[in-house]
Amino acid sequence: MIDLRSDTCSKPSDAMRLAMAAAPVGDDVYGDDPTVKELEREVANFLGKEDAVYMVSGTMTNQIAIRAHTEHGDAVLFDQGAHVYLLEGGAPAAFAGVLPRLLPGVRGVFTAADVEAAVGKPHRFFPSTVPAPPKLLCVENTHNVGGGKVWPMEELRAVCASARKLNLALHLDGARLWHASVATGIPERGYAELFDTVSVCFSKAMGAPVGSVLAGPRDFISRARRFKQQIGGGFRQAGIIAAGALYALRNNRERLVEDHARARMLAEGIARLPGIDLDPHTVETNIVRFRLTGLHAADFVERVYARGLHVLPAGIDSVRAIPYLNISNADIRRAISIIESVVLEHDAT
Ligand SMILES: Cc1ncc(COP(=O)(O)O)c(C=O)c1O
Repeated sequence: MIDLRSDTCSKPSDAMRLAMAAAPVGDDVYGDDPTVKELEREVANFLGKEDAVYMVSGTMTNQIAIRAHTEHGDAVLFDQGAHVYLLEGGAPAAFAGVLPRLLPGVRGVFTAADVEAAVGKPHRFFPSTVPAPPKLLCVENTHNVGGGKVWPMEELRAVCASARKLNLALHLDGARLWHASVATGIPERGYAELFDTVSVCFSKAMGAPVGSVLAGPRDFISRARRFKQQIGGGFRQAGIIAAGALYALRNNRERLVEDHARARMLAEGIARLPGIDLDPHTVETNIVRFRLTGLHAADFVERVYARGLHVLPAGIDSVRAIPYLNISNADIRRAISIIESVVLEHDAT
């Protein structure tokens, strides 16, 4: 089975497992795990932030960031397709108790004018105490539902400058920030400096089994540690898994270009097929999203699965496929031929 459902299906290499087995550990809840501390220091430096905290998942780092930036009843600005809003179990409502104000992003990219419109202008005939006070803007780079879209730097700067003028805090969901940097050559800290807080993930294309890091100002990270403990996120000898994340940061980032090339190879291989609506030029990083014009996604996914290819339905007529470090060029060629056989068979009926 060629599994292209997600880069979260990546498996740790033997070298990563060895590094994990050898990691010095301690009780992280007591602040005693040297490997967790090393990871937190290294990621904070890498992103140009004062401090950082290691957690089990990107959902936890994002949602604790939202919780720590806000009070219950505040409004948070999200893109309409944001992972933090759509795909994290309703946590902004359930955990932070905030109200979403949705931005009309195109593949996750919205404008400074969208932010200004969502915040609105005070007027003497309309008391500012009436609406939920907007406190935070969340941005996702690269954008998952947007098919791995990289935020253009100029637009990102304009959006962040407008948010600052409106006194919003800024959080970056950088689960795949590595991909944006590898694709553009702009270092991660070049994106991170526009934001108060940044979440990055190691358990996706970076190939570590577990974990994400939230980075930001020292006081903010102390507050985030409190919420981490509050929801049972304190883990004891976490150095074993933190060592996998450290290994990933030091060894697996540069190779992401290979995943980008394989995503493009897949896109180019299937874009020419009947029943597939896809412009390969929209594939900027490792995520391939395409629309089906004949088959339903659920049906397509079952048919390719029966022939040895696992992909994800991403809506009624859309499908997602993501190469990662355990996927070879031969796997991509095989994936293209499986998809070709399914769509040609359907086209002939
Ligand atoms: C953009 C983005 N943010 C956050 C997450 C959440 O990460 P996790 O699955 O580690 O909770 C994901 C997961 O795929 C994601 O794609």
